[in-house]
This record gives sequence, C-alpha cells and structure tokens, in this order.
Amino acid sequence: MNVKIFNIDRDHAQIKPRLITTFENVLSGGEFILGKEVRALEEEFAAYVGTKYAVGVASGTDAIKIGGLALGLKAGDRFVTTPNTYIATAMALTEHGCVPRFCDIEDGSYNMDPAALEDLLKKEPGIRLCIPVHLYGQPCRLDEIREICGRYGVMLMEDACQAHGSRYKGRNVGTMSDVAAFSFYPTKNLGCYGDGGMIVTDNDEAYKQMLILRAHGQTDRHVHDVQGFVSRLDELQAALVRVKLPHLDDWNIARRRNASLYDAGLEGLPVKKPAEEPYAYHVYHLYVIAVEEREPLRAYLGERGIITLVHYPTPIHLQKVYSHLGYGPGSFPVAERAARRIISLPIYPSLNEDEIAYVCEAISGFYRK
Ligand SMILES: Cc1ncc(COP(=O)(O)O)c(C=O)c1O
Repeated sequence: MNVKIFNIDRDHAQIKPRLITTFENVLSGGEFILGKEVRALEEEFAAYVGTKYAVGVASGTDAIKIGGLALGLKAGDRFVTTPNTYIATAMALTEHGCVPRFCDIEDGSYNMDPAALEDLLKKEPGIRLCIPVHLYGQPCRLDEIREICGRYGVMLMEDACQAHGSRYKGRNVGTMSDVAAFSFYPTKNLGCYGDGGMIVTDNDEAYKQMLILRAHGQTDRHVHDVQGFVSRLDELQAALVRVKLPHLDDWNIARRRNASLYDAGLEGLPVKKPAEEPYAYHVYHLYVIAVEEREPLRAYLGERGIITLVHYPTPIHLQKVYSHLGYGPGSFPVAERAARRIISLPIYPSLNEDEIAYVCEAISGFYRK
C-alpha cells in the first residue's frame, strides 16, 4: 500500500465540481485582484474566526510581515518566537531589519514555554513583539503568554498558520492577540491552490495600516505616503477558499478522528505520541510522533510506501542565515532534542482507517524486527 504524506485531490473530491465552476466563474467575471471574492472571503473569515477585520494577503509569511509592520515594528526592533517553527515566522520580519530572539519550548506540546519567555523578557528588556506559534494545530498557552506580554509591555501576534479552526479554552485562535496570521498554503487545513494568507485583528488602526501596506503603501488613489508592498490576495484563490471554508470544521473533525486512531494504534510502542493539552482543541495540521531511531524508522516506512516528513529538522536559531545572532547548539535544548526525534505521519481528512492501521502496523513491525 502507498500512503502519501498529503492527498489534497482526494480530500477535496466531493467539492471538486464546485471548485471547477468557481474557477470558471472567476475566469469570466472580469475581476482578478482584490475584488468581490476577496472582500467576501475577508468578511466570512473574520466571522468564522470572530474578529472585527480580516485582510487577505499574498501568503502566511506576508500576513506575519504586514501584521508586524502594521503594529509599528521598525528596523532594529526585536521580537521573540520559538526556534522550532517554520523559518517564515522569523524571516517575515528579519527581511525588514527586525531582530529575532528565541525562547525554548515545552517538551509536551512543542509550543512556547511561558517560563522561558518570561526569562528572556527579564534578561532582554525592550522586545516589542511576541509571536508564539500554534504549532501542528495545537494552541499555545495563550493566557500565560498574554499575561506575561502584558506585564512587559510586549505586543502579541499569534502565528496561526497551522491552526485554522483550533481553539484555546473554547476560544478561536486568532482572537486572543493584537493581530494573528493565517496561511492558505495548499497543504494547510484551509489551503488555496498557490500562495495566500490572511491577517485578522480587532484593532482599527492596525487594520487601516494593513490595507495601506498590502497595496504599495497607497493611502488614496495615486497617493503613497509610506513604503508598502504588492501583497494582494487574488480573486481566484479567494473564491476557491470560500468554497472550502464551510468544510473546514468537518475536515478538522476528520483529522481529530484520525489522530485518535493513530493514538490507539500506536499504544504500547516506544513512540511519544502527540498529547492534546487540556486547554486545547487540536486540529492536527500535523500528527507528530517522537522516537529515538528517527532515520531508520523513516527509511523502514518509506520502503513500505509510507511517506513521512520532519517539521522541522533544524531549529531556526541554528540556520546559517541567523548565525550572527549569537546562538548555537545547546542554546535551546528542548527544541533541539525535539528536532532530532520528531516525525510527521500522514494525517489528512480523507486518510482512512485501513491506511492508518497499515502505518501503525509498519511502525510496530519496525520495533519487532
Ligand atoms: C508556522 C508557520 N508560519 C508561517 C508560515 C508561512 O506561511 P506561507 O507558506 O503561506 O508563507 C507557515 C507555512 O508554511 C507556517 O507553518
């Protein structure tokens, strides 16, 4: 049997006819950039998340970039995130001369450790923005992080790029910070068919800035007072995401069902399973296990047609691009240990019981041999 790591076409088989009709409608509709589909998606996404505003942009990376700049971040300003995220969480703002600082994660959830955050803010006063990530679809400890940021006067941005539909203590992610960033990268829980992203906020002033920044810094027609970007969501991507948004909750339920099947199938094996925290509604963008023999196990699964990935093999403080920041091996032991041990197993809505049983049986076979 072959088990792919993603299977987008199969996930969307039921809505394919609607996607095709929508595609044709946009082609003949005559509006291609920031038109009625984008406006409608912005309204629907804001209503789904529960924020006053949503602003469509060209990618999740741009959502972080424009979100941060709309909050007033300038070159030289420092922000903090975790080292075990996708590089974009940091690079979105280092591109603009902002300086990343990192703090370690919790071993259980792989998310930002509030105690490590507080240590850093104490040691390095003046950090302006904190960007915790809801990694793999599980919300981070928002109450603690918010309280600490409040005490140190640090603004907060949720990186919700992997967590569409996830909830913290019953509240939707994206509603508990100054701004939040979502990605519509095709493999995300809510993806488009190219690049796309969305920023959400309740902040009137930040919202105004986002609209200006995403469109050449234009404050009025042919008036450009600030440096801006070309970061516009296009009609086609917005229209296709609109077809998918009403299915997101059901797809997340399917992901959660698949996670439970894995949990049961991996019981008793020397594998650390992902743990859903008591405060979390985990949407399993990724189902990540941790093992001692990572590469031999991945090779064994690969020989049996099972594709796995690693998110992420190199913590970003150890990437060459950030070698000037003064970090090195040992700076963040929890994140570094996780990076050596984690494996992402296939987990998408259309993955079926037989496929999950096959993956679990293969992992079990590896440990029996
Ligand atoms: C945690 C995280 N942050 C940011 C991004 C950037 O999103 P995009 O690829 O849409 O630019 C991604 C997705 O790749 C991500 O997983």
